[in-house]
Amino acid sequence: MFKYLALSTAIFAGAFALSNKANASEIANANEAKVLIAYYSYSGNTKKVAEAIHEKIGGDLFEIKDNTVYPEKYREMTQQAKEEIANGYRPKLTDKVQNISQYDVIFLGSPNWWSTITPQVSSFLESYDLSGKQIVPFITHGSGGVQNTVKTIIEQCKGCIVNDNPWVGYSSRTFGISGWLEDLGFKK
Ligand SMILES: Cc1cc2nc3c(=O)[nH]c(=O)nc-3n(C[C@H](O)[C@H](O)[C@H](O)COP(=O)(O)O)c2cc1C
Repeated sequence: MFKYLALSTAIFAGAFALSNKANASEIANANEAKVLIAYYSYSGNTKKVAEAIHEKIGGDLFEIKDNTVYPEKYREMTQQAKEEIANGYRPKLTDKVQNISQYDVIFLGSPNWWSTITPQVSSFLESYDLSGKQIVPFITHGSGGVQNTVKTIIEQCKGCIVNDNPWVGYSSRTFGISGWLEDLGFKK
């Protein structure tokens, strides 16, 4: 019995230690933190939100880019994206963040694609060692809301501390950004 208890405790502790954490929403010493705002945007909404964050708190802006060609027709484009997500497609990114270790806080922006993050954002998460970094997701959507986007970031960002107060906004909405940033600890 004791053996069984000890074993299950060890398994539980191990699983807990390996899991990626979500943390309390306020970032300690946010104003002193070195901030990166990284985002992927296909049609411009997430870019607008990234720029609004940047305008409020500064930091470095980084657009996640790749060479994937999508069909012009919306329906065909969304079908291609659906297949990419289903197949775990990871596009090669065409630009790299210099010295990512310098950043304490990374705002990470993705549109909601088929209820999750885009393959480009997954590639970004797999391209760097982000362990120990504070990740603040910002998600734009077309009315589905957060769905599995933040959950996927938590799963794919190994060892990251994913903030539990993400921005989740319809389209390019930025109303409320200032209050959200203040709640995160970025005071004027
Ligand atoms: C391939 C694709 C899949 C999408 N899937 C969803 C979805 O599952 N739920 C949702 O709310 N919006 C969905 N949308 C809408 C986008 O999330 C929304 O328009 C977003 O703001 C686009 O951001 P962007 O302009 O930065 O690319 C989808 C859009 C595309 C192109």
